[in-house]
Amino acid sequence: MTVNDPLNRRHFLKTLGYSTAGLALLSSPFISGAWAASPQRLFQVPPLASGVRDGKNISFSLNIQQGQTEFLNGRMTPTLGYNGSYLGPMLRVRRGDFISIKTTNDLDVTSTVHWHGMILPANMDGGPHQMIKPKASLVSKFEIIQPAATLFYHSHTYHKTAEQVYFGLAGPLIIDDDETDALDIPREYGVDDLPVIIQDRDFNDDGSFRYITRMPDLMLGKHGSTVMVNGVISPLLKAQKTLLRLRVTNASNARFYALAFNDSRPFQVIASDGGMLEKPVTVKQLNMGPAERFEILVDVSDRKQVILQGLKGAGNVNHGPMRMMGLDGQMDILFIDATDAKPSEHKTPSRLVHLADWSNVNIAENRHLDLNMSMGNMMGGGMSGMMGGGQSGGGFTINGATMDMNRVDFRLKKNTYEIWTFTNNSPMLHPMHVHNTQFKVLFRNGRLPSPLESGFKDTVVVGSGETVKILMPTGPYADPNGYYMHHCHILEHEDAGMMGQFVVVD
Ligand code: C2O
Ligand code: CU
Ligand code: CU
Repeated sequence: MTVNDPLNRRHFLKTLGYSTAGLALLSSPFISGAWAASPQRLFQVPPLASGVRDGKNISFSLNIQQGQTEFLNGRMTPTLGYNGSYLGPMLRVRRGDFISIKTTNDLDVTSTVHWHGMILPANMDGGPHQMIKPKASLVSKFEIIQPAATLFYHSHTYHKTAEQVYFGLAGPLIIDDDETDALDIPREYGVDDLPVIIQDRDFNDDGSFRYITRMPDLMLGKHGSTVMVNGVISPLLKAQKTLLRLRVTNASNARFYALAFNDSRPFQVIASDGGMLEKPVTVKQLNMGPAERFEILVDVSDRKQVILQGLKGAGNVNHGPMRMMGLDGQMDILFIDATDAKPSEHKTPSRLVHLADWSNVNIAENRHLDLNMSMGNMMGGGMSGMMGGGQSGGGFTINGATMDMNRVDFRLKKNTYEIWTFTNNSPMLHPMHVHNTQFKVLFRNGRLPSPLESGFKDTVVVGSGETVKILMPTGPYADPNGYYMHHCHILEHEDAGMMGQFVVVD
């Protein structure tokens, strides 16, 4: 049986006609927020991938392909995508499903596809060891054994992750389960339940993406001055309901966002990387590092027009000497026009799910991960030194070492819990990600973390000088020869070597 959906195969990035006003906007490095100059490009919902379902088995196919995408009126941008010219379709699966995804690489370079946030056997993880050579295919098969959450998938190609993701190799994935389905929250996909994949890009005059062109692009990670949602520059969402659930995914290579609405309206955060929080957290501003996800509920029952913005000063662009590099502007990310919104049948809930109490679990191991940047190497080695990473000992290190495909840093025992302590001795923030787990943040600088970090996470931002402790289940899968990664999710840092490997054994 084919899972049919009207959105399926809609070419979600065949972009609409832009007004000339839209073009004028694009010529300034930062779009600054007024409805007078509101963009005409409409919000696009990622199409649902068609899966073939047979009971609990569901199979998908993905094609890694090259294409052209019209982000700018009349100018085509060479891009990469899964089943389309840019980004990929929504893979929607359920807890308890056995999924099988056949990925075929139509590029003439090697790629991979990693299931970020998924608990799965190491040989299905899609990391740098599961290469898909040009014209080859790879089948990823695993059971969904974790709660409902907003995940994503992306290229994880050794030394090429940043570039391949920048050109478009990322896509959304949602896990559903009964507990979350029972909640009185918006869940109609494309209507009041909407993926919001945020990315920043730079363009050359001919419309092509501008990638690494200068030293700060490597050191800070690539930041762009144009922001996109689901592959459309600062789009306009015509709200269909008065309560919206936005599944916000920071799929940017390196940019941190301080999200807020232009009228400072409060909104509720209901989920983090690995699933629902126990109860909503009401905020006016939400900070997000690369790879983090938060689901938010936005009440637009006043039927106004409102802009989701990225405020100045978020993340590394505001750090000391890096402040002056012209990367730190306010961004208008998503325009929401609720003028015609219909009353929502949902209210903002006061409780969500119950999360297991881990306060008394046995700790099998304590590990320390010291994060560092060796400026000398970085400057001396220049671009090639940093891009080389690997054995050469480039700039960004974990416990003094850069990534080595042949070195195993940690051996974990399956079905146990470990405490990992990240200490950041560098002047930058690093969003640290661990594969094959959803962890809880125990302490940040010795204090309890904010309620926003009280749920399941797979990526945690470690600020300069900070020490962050996480409590991490090691999962049920053992394979002495299967490598999982842990790394900084500033993708240029990852590619420069700020990554390690671990195995899980019996
Ligand atoms: Cu999102 Cu190791 O990656
Ligand atoms: Cu991952
Ligand atoms: Cu980093």
